[in-house]
Amino acid sequence: MSWLDSFQTAQKEKPFLYTSGFPVLNRSFFPGFHTPAMKSTCSAKIQVKSPIPHLELSLVSHQVCWLTPEQTAGKQKPYMYTQGQAVLNRSFFPCFDTPAVKSTYSATVKVPEGFTAVMSATTWEKQEKDNTFTFKMSQPIPSYLIALAVGDIVSAEVGPRSRVWAEPCLIEAARKEYDGVIEEFLAVGEKLFGPYVWGRYDILFMPPSFPFGGMENPCITFVTPCLLAGDRSLVDVVIHEISHSWFGNLVTNANWGEFWLNEGFTMYAQRRISTVVYGAAYTCLEAATGRALLRQHMDNTGEDHPLNKLRVKIEPGVDPDDTYNETPYEKGYCFVSYLAHLVGDQSKFDAFLQAYVNQFKFQSIMADDALEFFLEYFPELKKKGVATIPGFEFDRWLNTPGWPPYLPDLSPGETLMKPAEELAELWAASILNMEAIKAVDISAWKTYQLVFFLDKILQKSPLPDTNVAKLSEMYPKISKAQNAELRLRWCQIVLKNNHEPEFGKVKDFLHSQGKQKYTLPIYRAMWSGSESARALAVETFSATAPQLHVNVQNYVKKILASEPGRT
Ligand code: BES
Ligand code: ZN
Repeated sequence: MSWLDSFQTAQKEKPFLYTSGFPVLNRSFFPGFHTPAMKSTCSAKIQVKSPIPHLELSLVSHQVCWLTPEQTAGKQKPYMYTQGQAVLNRSFFPCFDTPAVKSTYSATVKVPEGFTAVMSATTWEKQEKDNTFTFKMSQPIPSYLIALAVGDIVSAEVGPRSRVWAEPCLIEAARKEYDGVIEEFLAVGEKLFGPYVWGRYDILFMPPSFPFGGMENPCITFVTPCLLAGDRSLVDVVIHEISHSWFGNLVTNANWGEFWLNEGFTMYAQRRISTVVYGAAYTCLEAATGRALLRQHMDNTGEDHPLNKLRVKIEPGVDPDDTYNETPYEKGYCFVSYLAHLVGDQSKFDAFLQAYVNQFKFQSIMADDALEFFLEYFPELKKKGVATIPGFEFDRWLNTPGWPPYLPDLSPGETLMKPAEELAELWAASILNMEAIKAVDISAWKTYQLVFFLDKILQKSPLPDTNVAKLSEMYPKISKAQNAELRLRWCQIVLKNNHEPEFGKVKDFLHSQGKQKYTLPIYRAMWSGSESARALAVETFSATAPQLHVNVQNYVKKILASEPGRT
């Protein structure tokens, strides 16, 4: 679709808009079967307001996800959804698609009978007579936070300001998983960071191909159905998305090169809420798995990779999503923890965070704004010159790639980490000490303790021959797990050890969901594995590609096009 400014026309008076359908360009103009094999008539109602056209007909493209019934949990009705972050909403509606600009919005969505629409909006109203839903977001937000989903969706109440939304076949599981827990997270968040300004906090469980763990669309977080673990073990994702209500959605990074401002502060806020609700031991254990992911990422890319700076240079024409990695999350977390360490008093730092949100709410800012405010808020630290302590310069944090110069103390998690580490050590031996192994009872271990154990096993892999087979037999709780975080690690272990008898589990996991952070590491592991692992990658991708989000599809294609072992 081409938008011309008036100066680009012959008359130079009015803007001009045209479309050209050949060969398949119309797929970003309207939904339909974009093949010359199909013919049909059509009618359109288009309202154009100068100077920026406002189209009453929804403009949709392949970045708006259209799912067939088979791609949903219930397999009965089709489904559509949008995912705006980082720059996909420009193909959903005309907008200034930058996080630097904020506005309110309203929308009217007409759907076929038997469908429900939800949006990231303050109000939701349904006109029964014509299946029309109206939405109004009354707070200014950046374009990437506008989101729409339409499908066979129902809801259930789980708190005074919260509902879960899901396909009918998942709603009971969703209600059970979150009944009564959301409000506590919101209340702790408000106590720490100030008022929750968005009114409702709902959660929508997406179809299995949703590419993220969670997306913080205001008023209604979109999440992967993998969170329905049955034991509330994956709530940290919800705490993370709730934390974005202050960091990201209220105070927003002004451009995607400053993404760490959204994610680093959010990781810090998430772990503050988690510490209050679940205690320091559990939270430090979860943070240790985050640190392991950062280690893995830096080992894969090399510490000096330019993406391993907090502030990233995104050249014109580069899709910010292509720069996505663990650094803004976990190095960002370390930097915010370092600021807290400089202050030295948790309650004073909490008060600073609250003041920071209050200072910059509804604005988009750069790291310099945040750091300047920090130094103004703590003048004694400014006087001490904390911004330039050799080795820990703020400038170095932002602009030098590499491992964080400061790591927060995670020792409160030792009680949970130590036994897991020792058990992994036992399993890495060439002659297994089964007596010592059997003496460790893992039946009471929580998901993240098992995850930590499996990460250690993965680091030590490949294990001596037959150890993985024995490990699998000894702990069906792990090797037959339904929990997605455990399945991811188990698949990685199976592949790193080329444990062919369990390749079927890799295939099943990739067929069951399409989260990017699960899908890509597994394809990378397959591609750098044996010939049969590579064959499995090709076979699985040809079967599952159509149900993956187009971004994830493209990333997998890139892996499969690379020289094996060099992804
Ligand atoms: N905002 C992100 C998801 C995202 C990032 C979408 C970049 C598109 C581009 C979301 O808040 C997030 O970080 N989700 C994580 C949760 C985890 C860190 C607990 C995820 O999906 O894994
Ligand atoms: Zn996030």
